[in-house]
Amino acid sequence: MKRFKLFLLISSMAFFVYGQNPEWFYATTDAPSAHSLKTNYPDQIQILDTFIEVSAVYMSRDASMQLKNNGNLHGPGYIFKSNEEAARTAIYNVQEAHLGVLDFTIDQDDFVNQLLTQVDTQNIGDVILDMEAYGTRFNTKPAGIQASHDLKDRWQGMATDVGRTDVTVEAFNHSFTDQISVILTIPGSTYPDEIVIIGGHLDSGDFWLQDNAPGADDNGSGIATLTEVLRILLANDFHPLRTVQFMAYAAEEIGLYGSADIAENYADNNKNVLAVMQLDMTNYNGSAFDIAIISDGAHTSGTLNLFLVDLLEHYNSGGEHPITYDFSYCGYACSDHASWAANGYMASFPFESGFGEHNPYIHSPNDTYAKMGNTAEHSTKFVKLGLEFIVETAKTAQMGTNDIHRPQLMVVVKDRSLIYDLGAVQADGNSVVVFDPSGKKLVERQQLKSSGNLSLQGLPNGLYIAVFKDKNGKAYSKKFLLK
Ligand code: BES
Ligand code: ZN
Repeated sequence: MKRFKLFLLISSMAFFVYGQNPEWFYATTDAPSAHSLKTNYPDQIQILDTFIEVSAVYMSRDASMQLKNNGNLHGPGYIFKSNEEAARTAIYNVQEAHLGVLDFTIDQDDFVNQLLTQVDTQNIGDVILDMEAYGTRFNTKPAGIQASHDLKDRWQGMATDVGRTDVTVEAFNHSFTDQISVILTIPGSTYPDEIVIIGGHLDSGDFWLQDNAPGADDNGSGIATLTEVLRILLANDFHPLRTVQFMAYAAEEIGLYGSADIAENYADNNKNVLAVMQLDMTNYNGSAFDIAIISDGAHTSGTLNLFLVDLLEHYNSGGEHPITYDFSYCGYACSDHASWAANGYMASFPFESGFGEHNPYIHSPNDTYAKMGNTAEHSTKFVKLGLEFIVETAKTAQMGTNDIHRPQLMVVVKDRSLIYDLGAVQADGNSVVVFDPSGKKLVERQQLKSSGNLSLQGLPNGLYIAVFKDKNGKAYSKKFLLK
């Protein structure tokens, strides 16, 4: 008897310590189910947070039984979580499996510095004005749908104009809107399956402002920033080692729909996206510093945010391209970076100002270029950071000053041919590609013998890089001078 009382005492103490009602528990469930339970059994469920289509809830056993009865033939209709924290973080669903490997090196100085001088403020302003001129880019409005197709044509035209048939521009169609998302791809020469993304939403307005929504800053400025980054990369014949994608998302303003659709599709297809940069509002200069690195833990990657800091410290601390920065927080899933984070990818969101000091005219008929002083000066900072981000994550074949060393690999240039010896490696399945410093592929040879030579006839004198790959795809590079 005494023992039983002691047991009761201890178990009720434990109950007190954990503070949990055994009949209630934490879980995640789909948002519509959570909301219908809340409507029908308001006392039986608390909705703690909702992200995209999943809610974190605290609910009674009775409520959970309703979920099971709700036609959820497979499984209980919810996923049990042991505590509130677990439920709240699970809805952001970080799937580590999708995280790729980035080396976070900064070694493309020559090429990046060459690009930074080419940013043209007027070009950015012109694109902002083009975006504003639609009157609205709301995803259901004819002008908004037209704007999405026009942007696809604009980017395609830019690639065609410089003769880049390897660069593709595609529509990503969505079932929920006729507005398209636009995806431009610059294929990676050496690691085509490793993808780096820079994007922003092309729509404007919100539920309450569908017609007179010029959206010059939100997000004409982001689209203009992307377009200028693209222009400069194409003008410099950029050929990355990794694949680069430019994305203009549909229907962000109604709840990140376009980017959520794309990020989910990429995760479902196990696409190896190494890093994502979101550009949404870049042209309103509202803070004492230039760029706010939005650092919400659930929606951005701390590692990638610090890499942006590295880039800014490396390229923009003083010198000819000074950029100042600070950290800030939205406090919620405020833009498309959150869609990527929700699917387990590393995303960052450099923003025009501290949160709260941003453009006060967004989501109103006053979000115009005129209200930003008729200049795109502030956006130039984001073009520079965008260029640094793309080139340092995707890399050109130039590989900066460091060869990836492999002591056994030997190359010598003699009589306009490259004499090589792979050393002690598997004899079969080796290949080599020779690039110029911009990353352009010039010579390619499959099924290399373990030693031999490669003709360099026809190539002008200059610096080149040879990237040897073994049959597992592991790459080793050597620079050489042809003279
Ligand atoms: N550009 C804004 C996001 C934003 C606004 C970030 C102000 C920082 C400061 C974006 O287009 C937007 O309007 N987002 C919505 C949320 C989204 C899920 C519909 C917002 O912030 O209300
Ligand atoms: Zn907005």
